[in-house]
Amino acid sequence: MSGGADSIVQFDNVGLRYGTDREVLSDISFTLYPGSFYFLTGASGAGKTSMLRLLYLAQRPTRGAIRMFGHDLITQPRKALPEFRRRIGTVFQDFRLVPHLSAFDNVALPLRITGMRESEIAKPVNDMLEWVGLDHRAHARPATLSGGEQQRVAIARAVIARPEILVADEPTGNVDPEMAVKLLRLFEALNSLGTTVVVATHDVHLLRKVPDSLIMRLDKGKLSDPTGALRYPPKRENIGREARV
Ligand SMILES: Nc1ncnc2c1ncn2[C@@H]1O[C@H](COP(=O)(O)OP(=O)(O)OP(=O)(O)O)[C@@H](O)[C@H]1O
Ligand SMILES: [Mg+2]
Repeated sequence: MSGGADSIVQFDNVGLRYGTDREVLSDISFTLYPGSFYFLTGASGAGKTSMLRLLYLAQRPTRGAIRMFGHDLITQPRKALPEFRRRIGTVFQDFRLVPHLSAFDNVALPLRITGMRESEIAKPVNDMLEWVGLDHRAHARPATLSGGEQQRVAIARAVIARPEILVADEPTGNVDPEMAVKLLRLFEALNSLGTTVVVATHDVHLLRKVPDSLIMRLDKGKLSDPTGALRYPPKRENIGREARV
């Protein structure tokens, strides 16, 4: 298997099919290095969400091997997966906020899961809600928030516990361009603290906003990588360069 021991994620000839249909992902091989910032791009239906579902462990591949945090995921028993998932922050394309919890309690959830004391939770949660411009909506239930507001709560929840990997599916799909840039800055700030970031988007304008990012492009379930940027540790000449055939 290619890739060094210091990789955080490694896919080797991964394929995915839903049911008996054709493969929606084929021969996917790449290595993610800790502390890097990746964009996953490609047309609607190219397989971005499917790839992220593999990354946040909602889905097992139909073939191939996936290593994460130095462990072979395919041979892990099901009961081991929640422990892995706690190390991954996820922004779902459809948000998936807990409907009966307020914005505050949705964002606080990952901290409560880690066992943080209630007295220590309020400040980071309020600071995060303020960053995403929702401090005045802290007590609102998700159903009473707009799509863009729900998306910002989902992002706040995904980053609050400083995960080792952040996996975000079209995280700026419902916000205006100004807020999109602000949210990207939040991801960059997390990235500068060491989190490996993977952001799926079909908005190519977004890619240029993060100059140090590496770009993975999916085309009908195939990943293109002619520069080798996704197989070797990030090199200066690969940064900001689109892996296009
Ligand atoms: N649960 C499912 N069962 C069957 N087919 C699926 C399922 N989920 C996705 N697909 C199919 O897999 C392919 C890739 O879908 P996916 O959602 O990964 O694309 P995407 O790149 O995220 O698209 P978008 O930009 O629209 O979000 C599509 O052809 C889609 O119809
Ligand atoms: Mg998608």
